[in-house]
Amino acid sequence: MNQQLKTLLLKLESFGVDNDAAIAERPKRMLNITPDTGEFLSILIKATKAKNILEIGTSNGYSTLWLADAALANDGHITTIEYTDYKAELALSNFIEAGLDGCITLIKNDAGLELAKFQNNQFDFIFLDSERSEYLGWLSELKRTLKVGGLLVVDNAVSHLTEMLPLMNVLKVDSDFSTNLIPIGNGEFLAYKEK
Ligand SMILES: C[S@@+](CC[C@H](N)C(=O)[O-])C[C@H]1O[C@@H](n2cnc3c(N)ncnc32)[C@H](O)[C@@H]1O
Repeated sequence: MNQQLKTLLLKLESFGVDNDAAIAERPKRMLNITPDTGEFLSILIKATKAKNILEIGTSNGYSTLWLADAALANDGHITTIEYTDYKAELALSNFIEAGLDGCITLIKNDAGLELAKFQNNQFDFIFLDSERSEYLGWLSELKRTLKVGGLLVVDNAVSHLTEMLPLMNVLKVDSDFSTNLIPIGNGEFLAYKEK
């Protein structure tokens, strides 16, 4: 990672913490992943050589920058979805500032509507960090669009376990998937698509 991106990530970390401490209104909170989660996602992407990456829940693009920097090593591309105009605008300006806008496609829309437009087996890696009550309803599309050998990573699996359990319980008994819960950051649930 270059120094310019390191500096921007540090700036966004401070901004996220200060902003979220000061603002109660959910659409204006950044709700970013933790820095160690960013490092973890980066390692997963590099180690699995993931090229086609989908993120649901961009916010101001903090997590997207981690994903994009790792994807660059694989000559990869990120598609990221955010339906809040304010956050999508912040994200775009952060992607440009990082010089990573060329490998990121930002879609400003409801993820449920966008998921249906993707091809079967399109993505090597999906990072889900959005509205948890929607996850179970999105699952068939997530499964359809994830390649065999691909990885689904879901944030907040420890911090919001009760809300995450419906999704986790279905994937845990799905013979197409191997799953694991990693206690890093807010808790990352991993579902590897075996077949
Ligand atoms: C937890 S934040 C994402 C944080 C971001 N991944 C990061 O770590 O920097 C969740 C984001 O998902 C967005 N969101 C929630 N439901 C959505 C939906 N149905 N379609 C698109 N975006 C959605 C919210 O506006 C919010 O910005």
